[in-house]
Amino acid sequence: MEWTQEMRYRPYREWDDDYIKKVETCVKQSTWRLNYHVQPETGLLNDPNGFSFFNGKWHLFYQSFPFGPVHGLKSWHHVASKDLIHWESEEGTIEPSSSYDSHGAYSGSGIPVGEELFLAYTGNVRDEAWERQSYQLGAWMAADGNIEKESNPLIDQPPAGITAHFRDPQIIRYKEGYLMIIGGQTTVEKGEVLVFSSKELTEWEYQGPMKIDEDLGFMVECPNLLFLEGKTLLLLCPQGLDKKSLNYQNIYPNTYILAEDYLESTNELKNPQTQRVLDEGFDLYATQAFTDPDGRCLSVGWIGLPEMHYPTFEEGWAHSLSLVKELTIREGKLYQYPVIETTYLRQSEEVLDLAAMVKNVTETTNTYELQVAIPADCQGSIRIFSDSTGEQALVLSYDTAKGTLQLDRSKTQYPLDPEFGETRESRIPVNESLKLALFVDRSTCEIFVNGGKTVLTANYYPTETQTNLVLQSTKQSNAKYYVLEK
Ligand code: FRU
Repeated sequence: MEWTQEMRYRPYREWDDDYIKKVETCVKQSTWRLNYHVQPETGLLNDPNGFSFFNGKWHLFYQSFPFGPVHGLKSWHHVASKDLIHWESEEGTIEPSSSYDSHGAYSGSGIPVGEELFLAYTGNVRDEAWERQSYQLGAWMAADGNIEKESNPLIDQPPAGITAHFRDPQIIRYKEGYLMIIGGQTTVEKGEVLVFSSKELTEWEYQGPMKIDEDLGFMVECPNLLFLEGKTLLLLCPQGLDKKSLNYQNIYPNTYILAEDYLESTNELKNPQTQRVLDEGFDLYATQAFTDPDGRCLSVGWIGLPEMHYPTFEEGWAHSLSLVKELTIREGKLYQYPVIETTYLRQSEEVLDLAAMVKNVTETTNTYELQVAIPADCQGSIRIFSDSTGEQALVLSYDTAKGTLQLDRSKTQYPLDPEFGETRESRIPVNESLKLALFVDRSTCEIFVNGGKTVLTANYYPTETQTNLVLQSTKQSNAKYYVLEK
């Protein structure tokens, strides 16, 4: 189907039930639907939004275009969970309904204030000439899920020198008041992280662009400022970043900068480390995080990327959210690892025999967790979504003598935009033992290296006969296999 601009921006009420039923039927036939990741019922999911803990539950929203697997008129779909694993759709969505958000309720954040959850988001508006305007908007969600939009914008125009690419507000408590961190672009097309402050969430005062001594491309999306374990962490999505200033291959990277502190008086990060990619795999973007009431810093990202083509587009749906990860700092480094609650998904445990030089082939439902402990001076591979011969598979190979890890998704019937590379390489410590944790779910895989020091996220679309897990190693290793189910 050809998606015209008119169709992408057609008001939600004009889509009839028959059309929705057709899309639902199409989605149901997909063999790539996920078992334990948040995915759209129909249509397209992109950024996580409003991730928060409120009224005894975790709340998560996501950018949604429910009518097809394309970027169109976006709304916030709402899911909630008591355990960060089982997510159910809930009342309380944000749909475009006013002159401030007529062309999309774009990304933003959520923060409990008094008895309600305050949601901040960007209203995307296009005029007759299709010129963009962006407003930072507020809405209040009550305990029963009812959402009331504020009638006036929190910020009604970009600051001087900033274009209408001004979006994705993150509101955090800071000292006696609040900060709002927004992604932006200057009129000379440089990415910026813009900072506003407020005492009571009403009047917002512009503090200027955060001083960051890094290439931020032509535009920044989805910035998040976090305080964890005495450090300051900035997450961001700089688009158009020069590959000479950061080694990445994805169309756009999701990056982070770890610093000792945020200095409000000069609006800068204190002693920042250099900018790094958050995920060394193929498909991760728009990560958002917050500190929960127990003090855990929890993150979730969009498994997907803008402007890429995925084979589920033919089936009426696209993308998913990552597992919820806990962010920690160890020896000055950022670690990301699925929250402990993820172990609730384990249904059974099996020790796989991984003797030296023996090929271990396990038949799977492509829904499992695999924990592997590999000794030093060892070479091997893990073929996920493999056919019986091991030829077609998502291949993770390692060499602990050389300190290299490679993820290769070229062996497939459904190649994904090969121009952005079909392999990803990561460095691992030379001649040390290696720990890998893999979370495989039907057409997506999240790989955590050495407890989450490195993460590689990848979509991969197997044929119906690609249901094996094939392990090979030059030295005896330990592998534990858990079937995961909701
Ligand atoms: C990032 C993004 C955000 C925007 C949203 C629109 O993927 O482009 O900047 O708010 O998606 O869906």
